[in-house]
Amino acid sequence: MSVDVLLGLQWGDEGKGKIVDVLAPEYDVVARFQGGPNAGHTLEFEGIKHVLHTIPSGIFRADSINVVGNGVVIDPVTLRKEIEALLGMNVPVSKRLFISRKANLILPTHRLLDAASEALKGVDKIGSTLRGIGPTYMDKTGRNGLRVGDIESDAFTSRYEKLKLKHLELLRSMNYGTEALEALEKDFFTAIDYLRQLNLVDSEHLMNKFIQSKRSVLAEGAQGSLLDIDFGSYPFVTSSNTITAGACTGLGVAPRHINKVYGIFKAYCTRVGSGPFPTELNDATGEAIRKSGNEFGATTGRPRRCGWLDLPALRYAIMINGVTDLTMTKPDVLSDFDDIYVCTHYEINGERIDYMPYDIVHTPVTPVYKKLPGWKCDLTGIEREDQFPLPLAGYIAWLEEQLQVPVSIVSVGPNRKQTIIRKK
Ligand code: IMP
Repeated sequence: MSVDVLLGLQWGDEGKGKIVDVLAPEYDVVARFQGGPNAGHTLEFEGIKHVLHTIPSGIFRADSINVVGNGVVIDPVTLRKEIEALLGMNVPVSKRLFISRKANLILPTHRLLDAASEALKGVDKIGSTLRGIGPTYMDKTGRNGLRVGDIESDAFTSRYEKLKLKHLELLRSMNYGTEALEALEKDFFTAIDYLRQLNLVDSEHLMNKFIQSKRSVLAEGAQGSLLDIDFGSYPFVTSSNTITAGACTGLGVAPRHINKVYGIFKAYCTRVGSGPFPTELNDATGEAIRKSGNEFGATTGRPRRCGWLDLPALRYAIMINGVTDLTMTKPDVLSDFDDIYVCTHYEINGERIDYMPYDIVHTPVTPVYKKLPGWKCDLTGIEREDQFPLPLAGYIAWLEEQLQVPVSIVSVGPNRKQTIIRKK
């Protein structure tokens, strides 16, 4: 059996959590492969709205196995809170959740270093979620990090102290106060004890056993392709590989096992934090999208920047990920608009291009738009594809022609039920 991957094609917040939750019954295993508590995957069903940060979005489905892979960075404090909230909802987490020993740990000092680094950058700050993600991945690649498996060793505390000393020196050189550390450490060590009780596994072996025994696996991406450390709008990116290839390194799964790649995109675009956003609307239209789409961060509550759909960026993400199936989310948010605009090209130095150039940070691009008719009706009650208003059906058909990949799922609202699986 093979592994299907589901990931975001924009700057995150495409609605991945909901789609994983919808697809989860088709899979035996749902696995997270990168990122950490910077993610916020929102699921809505049976009158419940729930946000997951580290735990895969299959956790609510009976019989689903959920794996947090080696590519994820784990904050034990956040993870514990997340598990306790689920236990409060009678979700049998311990039966369904497995955590990789090779996942790196976010330490309290990583969070301080994240804040110190952003403060030093001033106006050039990334707009990080300040969850310690960047400094933890830096320690991983710098070969200094502590991993989940280390908490099973008697030497854990001394290793922790050694790394902490290094961090304290750094924080001193950055002139950043550490008053908060004592309280953070208390919570951290309590959470480490909690983490020890969970199912800690060699997840690369587990994943490959699942594949050999023909269990179906869905790898769930976090953030979005345009935030990828290699291919995103660098340096305004996150610190992991958010793309399909990240599922291989973040789970220990060979590329030949990857089958379908579900690419999720919104019918428009959003971005949280700083960085280039060619189709951003700093006007009443952008504000209207934010309001109608409730575009506020699930993790930080920050207002999201809003703009029209960007095809050069979307084509780029489809190419890098090898997307086989597209899912469009939130067309219902655009229901009030007479016209819908889509960026088909960029203009750069007087030239018209249809691809993502090397640098959109220092060489801004001007979007060229195509105007399409709006659907001007409520989509949230739609149950079948043949109920799509003509302009929406036309919008989807035009996108499929432009992108050369089928839009196989359309989400018309936050609830599980508001999902249309299109006929092939
Ligand atoms: P970090 O990953 O917290 O360091 O944040 C780096 C950049 O990625 C910032 O612009 C964040 O706003 C953005 N980011 C990180 N995680 C997410 C996410 O899950 N959704 C959307 N943006 C995110």
